[in-house]
Amino acid sequence: MTGQITESKINEVRERSDIVELISQYVSLKRAGGNHVGLCPFHSEKSPSFSVNAARQFFHCFGCGVGGDVYSFLMKIEGLTFPDAVRRLAERAGIDLEERSLSPEEERRQEQRERLYALNGTAAAYFHRLLMEHPAGAPARDYMRQRGYGRKAAEEYQIGYSLPAWEDLQQHLTAQGCSAEDARTLGLVRPGKQDRGDYDLFRGRLIFPVYDLTGRVVAFAGRVLDEGKPKYINSPESPIYHKGRVLFGLYQARQAMRRSGEVILVEGYFDQLALYRAGFPQVVATCGTALTADHARLLKRYVQRVLLLFDQDSAGTQATFKAMRVLQAEGVPAAVITLPQGEDPDSFLRSYGGEAFSGLLAEARPVMDVYMEDALSDCTSIEEKVRAAEQIIEQIDELNSELEQDLYLKELARRSGIELDLLKRKRKQRNGKKSASVPLPDEYPLMRESGPAGNTVAPDRPAPTAMSRAEETLLGLLSCHAAARERFIASGGPELLIHPVAVTLAQLLIEDRGLENSDPQSLGEGLDPEMRDCWKKVCAVDRGAFGDDVDVLFDDCLLALERHRKKQQREEILTRIRRFEQLGEMEKAKDLLEEFKKLK
Ligand code: UTP
Ligand code: MN
Repeated sequence: MTGQITESKINEVRERSDIVELISQYVSLKRAGGNHVGLCPFHSEKSPSFSVNAARQFFHCFGCGVGGDVYSFLMKIEGLTFPDAVRRLAERAGIDLEERSLSPEEERRQEQRERLYALNGTAAAYFHRLLMEHPAGAPARDYMRQRGYGRKAAEEYQIGYSLPAWEDLQQHLTAQGCSAEDARTLGLVRPGKQDRGDYDLFRGRLIFPVYDLTGRVVAFAGRVLDEGKPKYINSPESPIYHKGRVLFGLYQARQAMRRSGEVILVEGYFDQLALYRAGFPQVVATCGTALTADHARLLKRYVQRVLLLFDQDSAGTQATFKAMRVLQAEGVPAAVITLPQGEDPDSFLRSYGGEAFSGLLAEARPVMDVYMEDALSDCTSIEEKVRAAEQIIEQIDELNSELEQDLYLKELARRSGIELDLLKRKRKQRNGKKSASVPLPDEYPLMRESGPAGNTVAPDRPAPTAMSRAEETLLGLLSCHAAARERFIASGGPELLIHPVAVTLAQLLIEDRGLENSDPQSLGEGLDPEMRDCWKKVCAVDRGAFGDDVDVLFDDCLLALERHRKKQQREEILTRIRRFEQLGEMEKAKDLLEEFKKLK
């Protein structure tokens, strides 16, 4: 259910919830004086530095510094958005949120989504039963056994099997009273030619359900049991499935990710399974797609660092550096785990075992380090070396921390044998050119090309450079209007914003209920320099300038943001279309073109 939650409701729910009771469900707490203490669930520790104050309804960790109220705790531990956290606690407290009622169209879509989740659940249970019990499931059971998996793994992931028949699932779904149209929407069945009925998408395949964060099945992947092609089939996108926003295994891995603060990102379903079982449960896989900015933001909610573990071939290396760019743009530090040539995580674990893998994990190297080495490795001529150095400088520029930039520049000088001063000058030149470029009209600053036009492949999503006017204005509104904050929270909260700094500042403003009640100076402390600058701007906003039309201004900002987001999506799709065209995959390009037209 989505709608507007009022600020008074938010307060009421907070007051009626007990923070000690809530946190006790996740952490074993002991009384210590007026507080309760336990082991922090957000970082790994041996002696308790996590403290919960029942009187003030506040938690704080003296080890890692996290802290906040019931909402911040629930958001952080469950990876929820603010409105979802409010809803969850309201439900527990038996408070009716009286959200704004949905329009008929919204209601129709909401009902459809509920039906689709239920239908996927029915299909998953059916596939699972075929694998676990049905006589015809024997080949799949053999296959699992041969790869070293027993009932336990199959049950935990609800792995299944689809019979090698054309209408088996279709008939089961019909018998269960599911709508044929819904099954088609999910891609589980496809309409047959002429007067033929619908036929199953997955036939004779091992089935992996893909879960969302709340454990609902949103899609499936099916693997052949032999050498047949294609090796995997994936569910198409649907109203409940966007592969760019879903990660395989996240549902199972999220607690471990939070504990370790890290996640291992792999390419394959079986890689995820293999690591999870071998005692490395902090692992997720993308579902047959490259890492997207949405994926990166999702991971950022749980971890401080991403460990990239892709196949050791040239495609894997390319994917690694592509993921590096996406993660860098979102400010997520990344490192690379290297396997021996020709191995993937699944095969490595089978040949060498978990202990050997622990060794590799400990040796993970910062991705920038690996990138530098790779770019410089096959340079035979001076031109090639210069070109490589330029590319590396470009990448160093994308790093968030100046300190890191400085260190990598020195490292580049050492490795390339190019004078540091020269590299620095080169970098200045580059940046000079960048800022001298004419601002594109009506253009969000995020979208400006980050390098000289035409000399690199445009990244899927250029690194954020500055906040948009809309974001600045919105932050200004949030800082001085309770009503704006209320509307902001109800419309989706900080995730509406695009620039990471804006997201963080919005979060601060919400938690501290604006600037009216607190000292802006002290709020700004502890922010890093870039954020502090933005913060100062927000504090300096002339409150009178908004006039009486706060609501109108607010709507304008949201609209502008929505436009930027759409535009970003379109550009991402265009890049992908071009790439498919280059690869000669015209079918896929055509599909995307349809998507593109819809967005227009
Ligand atoms: P791989 O070919 O490396 O498969 O593809 P794998 O994961 O190692 O699988 P096993 O161990 O041989 O069974 C890596 C990932 O790429 C996607 C899947 O997500 C797969 O896990 N993929 C691959 C597809 O979507 N379709 C394909 O036909 C092949
Ligand atoms: Mn593989």
